[in-house]
Amino acid sequence: MRIPLAAPDITEQDIAAVAVALRSSRLSRGPRLEEFERALAGYVGAAHAVAVSSGTSALHLCMRALGMGEGDEVIVPSFAFIAVANAVRYERAIPVFVDVDPLTLNLDPGLIEAAITSRTRAILVVHTFGCPAELSEIIRIARRHRLLVIEDACEAIGAEYDGRKVGSQGDAGVFAFYPNKQITTGEGGAIVTGDPQLAALARKLRNQGRNDSEDWFEHTEFGYNYRLSEINCALGVEQLKRIEPILERRAAIAAEYQRRLGNHPALKLPPFALPRCRLSWFVYVVRLSAQFSQSQRDWIVKEMIARGIGCGRYFAPIHLQPIYKHASFQRMALPVTEWNAARSLALPFFNRIREEQVEEVCRTLEELLCRAGGPTPGG
Ligand SMILES: Cc1ncc(COP(=O)(O)O)c(C=O)c1O
Repeated sequence: MRIPLAAPDITEQDIAAVAVALRSSRLSRGPRLEEFERALAGYVGAAHAVAVSSGTSALHLCMRALGMGEGDEVIVPSFAFIAVANAVRYERAIPVFVDVDPLTLNLDPGLIEAAITSRTRAILVVHTFGCPAELSEIIRIARRHRLLVIEDACEAIGAEYDGRKVGSQGDAGVFAFYPNKQITTGEGGAIVTGDPQLAALARKLRNQGRNDSEDWFEHTEFGYNYRLSEINCALGVEQLKRIEPILERRAAIAAEYQRRLGNHPALKLPPFALPRCRLSWFVYVVRLSAQFSQSQRDWIVKEMIARGIGCGRYFAPIHLQPIYKHASFQRMALPVTEWNAARSLALPFFNRIREEQVEEVCRTLEELLCRAGGPTPGG
């Protein structure tokens, strides 16, 4: 792709740090893991961080360590990455989909209580595209019904709600470090929590259920290999040192898109600023206006890609995925999810995108919107 949808930002310093890790004799469970966990916990403002192999394994360990089991219900958005619901199902619990707010595309707090039953155990709240969800209201509902709150901050590292980083306000928070994220470890994820017992259990479970003891062949839990290598952690430590300039750069790119597309009558742009929130830009997703059909959106995506411009439909709702469509999980209608998913379009968004590339993306999008029959600026 001439202008990719996403790209990692790897510096010479990152490469040098990874090389140092490789030259050491310690490639797993070493000092870089501890350093990465300490730095992440400090940045997020949580007492504990447990680094694992992916955001998905972090979500799964949360479900396991928090005791979700067969028949338990967990409230989740369907407008999200599939791992959100899969992690619930790994433990034979049931994801209960709730619709999202049309502005932020996050769980709509006003709809949550109608989905709560005697089996509900937790709310898994996703900070979609780096935009914080309504945490105070969601946590209030959870406390009223004695539910756990798990924050999926995989797309939102550095975002803040009421002056505190997301991920640190629920019972547990989860991050992901795939190469399209704000910072990357190659593959990787983490759980953060204020609960020392939860952190200790997650550490045990990520390492085949072993205790901290040096006995490699004693397993006291039914665990997994969800470890993150020293190589990944070395990259994570370096990337995390640069997180603030990275977030500023990404906010500047979002502002540039906003400036160029802001007056287009065929587009609804993502919220740029919200009260009580600091956004952390993960992707830049526009929505086409009502007169466009899903197939017109898909045609635009195809045309953009044919011209070498990375473009994606973020997100395809989970409840409409082939492996979920026929399951009996859906309890309530999800019109906002379906409407927005049919019209969303993610544009190229990465730290090193150049201004002339943003200009080309916007020019091409405007041309295709016009060819698809939409209104033109000033027209
Ligand atoms: C909201 C959300 N949750 C979980 C994940 C899973 O993370 P990973 O791909 O590292 O397994 C992602 C990945 O993009 C995500 O966006």
